[in-house]
Amino acid sequence: MKYYVLFGPPGAGKGTQAGAMVERYKLCHLSTGELLRSEIAAGTPLGLQAKALIEAGNLVPDEVVEGMIESKFKSVKGVEGFLLDGFPRTIAQAEALEKMLAKNDEAVTACVSLMIPDALIQERIAHRAQIEGRADDAKPEVVENRIRTYHAKTEPLINFYKAAGQYQEIDGVGTIEEVQGRIFGLMDKF
Ligand code: AP5
Ligand code: MG
Repeated sequence: MKYYVLFGPPGAGKGTQAGAMVERYKLCHLSTGELLRSEIAAGTPLGLQAKALIEAGNLVPDEVVEGMIESKFKSVKGVEGFLLDGFPRTIAQAEALEKMLAKNDEAVTACVSLMIPDALIQERIAHRAQIEGRADDAKPEVVENRIRTYHAKTEPLINFYKAAGQYQEIDGVGTIEEVQGRIFGLMDKF
């Protein structure tokens, strides 16, 4: 099985690029953000716990997302691998992922990192706010907190995956098709 970490700041294009990636490489797309938004929409206890954190632009507890991912690894069948979008987001989550995979003698295949500058994050999220109505896109101060949280808690994963020899950076600036071409150029080699 292949395990790809699709990494990048808010608005980098992870969700946008994921569809074509899962189709081309027969992967299951697991977005912890989307899974959490479904829990909120369904009004589950987990959703209630996550709602305020997400709407303030803070991370939900590591154990919550780790549990969601592990249960999907166990239940999803008939794919050639997983595309993890928005997970891991802390060093603790990355270590938990390594442990989950090591139980079956598996490991992360690559961390595919979409990089865009902070100014473009704001621009893309402001654009998406008009279209999708995500609660955490609506207020500029929440978007700023998401960017701060990314730099403080998630960016250290770059060195984590570099040290593991798994880090692959893609320039996320350009049209959706240009970025997709760069991703396929990289992933066709795995
Ligand atoms: P999550 O849903 O993961 O949000 P995020 O990481 O902030 O990322 P986004 O979904 O905002 O960005 P994206 O990279 O998918 O961009 P997109 O493709 O949509 O997480 C939400 C929250 O859930 C977190 O803040 C946290 O509270 C919680 N959470 C989730 N995972 C967690 C975890 N592991 N641990 C703890 N908490 C967790 O693109 C953005 C916009 O740009 C779109 O409008 C798109 O059309 C446009 N666009 C994309 N590419 C291009 C391009 N090349 N050119 C022009 N426009 C483009
Ligand atoms: Mg997304």
